[in-house]
Amino acid sequence: MRKLLIAANWKMYKTPAESAAFLTNFFPLVKDNTTAEIVLCPAMPCLPAVVEAARDESVSVGAQNMHWLSEGAYTGETSPTMLTAIGATHVLIGHSERRQYFNETDTTVNLKLKSALVHSLIPIVCVGEHLNERERNLTADVLNLQVSVALEGIDPASLGPLVIAYEPVWAIGTGRTATPEIAEGAHKIIRARIASIAGSDVANATRILYGGSVKPDNAGKLCCLGDIDGALVGGASLDPASFAQIIANATSR
Ligand code: PGA
Repeated sequence: MRKLLIAANWKMYKTPAESAAFLTNFFPLVKDNTTAEIVLCPAMPCLPAVVEAARDESVSVGAQNMHWLSEGAYTGETSPTMLTAIGATHVLIGHSERRQYFNETDTTVNLKLKSALVHSLIPIVCVGEHLNERERNLTADVLNLQVSVALEGIDPASLGPLVIAYEPVWAIGTGRTATPEIAEGAHKIIRARIASIAGSDVANATRILYGGSVKPDNAGKLCCLGDIDGALVGGASLDPASFAQIIANATSR
């Protein structure tokens, strides 16, 4: 049985004061939740305070990115060692905005995934096709390649914590959500590829989230299909009531 995971990706939004205001409103709204694992991924400067504030709540905190090395002369980067030291438990890897604007590739995703597993961070690896790839019928090829390279050289026995987020690039921030059928189809492709690389036990245990314009009014439908194990939410996670409503709708499946 895979536990539903609903994660908030705040991207480059919210100062520490704005994060604190969100939490004050949000925690009471999800205090009775036991069904879903809730993860907040704020910007780096807000991470320590959000971790601290969430200590007695059933809410986990993750980073939106990290370097794969523990330390070094890499100006502007954050290491997995730093993330675990401040109490972050999850990390987004290879979000499409990182791939698009910061030249991340499947190869750097692979390095980061290996590093996250070594440092006991729960990796949320983002994959997804562009609109032109979907229109040319290349979705399966794109997803298979992204998953294959991400998992290259990793011992299946270490993949227990793996989470994948299927985020079709054409659905991110556009208001254009994948239909539940499109999402379910993509999730099946991803799960089958994980099975062929790491075996069916790993594939069946891997949570595959959907991301891309998830809102309160579509969260219930998207999360009620068998291969969709939760959501990665951008814009609609910035407001506490909206994000709590997404969690409520997703967990009422
Ligand atoms: P969105 O973003 O919900 O605003 O489409 C999702 C994401 O980028 O993770």
